[in-house]
Amino acid sequence: MTRAIQISAFGGPEQLQLVDVAVGEPGPGEIRIRHHACGLNFIDVYQRTGLYPNPLPLALGMEGAGVVEAVGEGVTHLRPGDRAAYAGNPPGGYCDARVMPARNVCKLPDGISFDTAAGMMLKGLTAQYLLKKTLPVEGLQPGDYVLFHAAAGGVGLIACQWARALGLRLIGTAGSAAKCALALEHGAAHAIDYAKEDFVARVKDITGGRGVKVVYDSIGKDTFERSLDCLRPFGLMASFGNASGPVPPFAPGVLAAKGSLYLTRQTLFAHIATREATQAMADELFAVVGSGKVKIRIGQRYALADAAQAHRDLEARRTTGSSVLLP
Ligand SMILES: NC(=O)c1ccc[n+]([C@@H]2O[C@H](COP(=O)([O-])OP(=O)(O)OC[C@H]3O[C@@H](n4cnc5c(N)ncnc54)[C@H](OP(=O)(O)O)[C@@H]3O)[C@@H](O)[C@H]2O)c1
Repeated sequence: MTRAIQISAFGGPEQLQLVDVAVGEPGPGEIRIRHHACGLNFIDVYQRTGLYPNPLPLALGMEGAGVVEAVGEGVTHLRPGDRAAYAGNPPGGYCDARVMPARNVCKLPDGISFDTAAGMMLKGLTAQYLLKKTLPVEGLQPGDYVLFHAAAGGVGLIACQWARALGLRLIGTAGSAAKCALALEHGAAHAIDYAKEDFVARVKDITGGRGVKVVYDSIGKDTFERSLDCLRPFGLMASFGNASGPVPPFAPGVLAAKGSLYLTRQTLFAHIATREATQAMADELFAVVGSGKVKIRIGQRYALADAAQAHRDLEARRTTGSSVLLP
């Protein structure tokens, strides 16, 4: 048996229940991992509310780190006793131990702690595919401006540092002066407190009226339209989340009117669909973290049993950097 956080109905944080569930043996292509730390992500909130629906009852959690206890038939890249970490489907990561597909589980380099790994796999792989693979038609070159919303959050602080390592000038937005300071400390070239300032005007000002080549927008409803106004002609709107609610339907003609813009709505899960792709992306993440160019800030630690409080804090915008749940 293992402890796991589950919901039996969609709703608020009060739906999160600590339950005892059976953990079996791994089948073909699966492993059993005992967690030392579990990651908290905004997608867990979407799954809890039903914005991203899954069958109920639902065990939450898409990210974790720990020790492999058993491997099923056909799994060759992991052995019992290996330190490992993952981001990926299916949900069920808020638990002491679980059986899961081995595809997204990677051997963890010795220099990376379990807490750090649980705080970086989903968010770091996301920062990787955004900054390295979600690019405008002419690509991104050192010195280029990009706009990244929620820059002091989990994905945000990793993106600030990774962008600096790539030579990009990342303009970060965040909801308070303290969060802006944190984004700047982590490598943002500029920070805009979008609770107080008009971020479109500030972006225009910073870029000499030209606008940015890419906006990475995980806020959704509240920022979508104004984010389009921050782009230069042919710029890329990379929508990848809905912290404020989903983007309402809109007419494609808007993209023409604002300068032949491109729009994409990205998800990590398309990028980590195969074991090879997952490992290649994870290797880049391990390298950039191992080199010290990207440091993972664990802003909050909670006991596994306090997952509901972790959700409350995340939704109330009280967190910075990554949060982990400790079994
Ligand atoms: N598509 C993908 O592949 C993918 C993968 C990972 C994450 N994501 C998305 O990326 C975003 C960041 O994820 P994360 O786990 O690292 O979370 P996070 O950034 O640590 O937390 C979300 C942040 O969004 C900002 N925010 C703005 N409006 C908000 C609202 N109405 N309610 C709550 N927060 C609001 C808050 O920062 P301020 O107070 O500074 O505004 C908050 O701290 C999420 O939207 C997530 O869904 C997408």
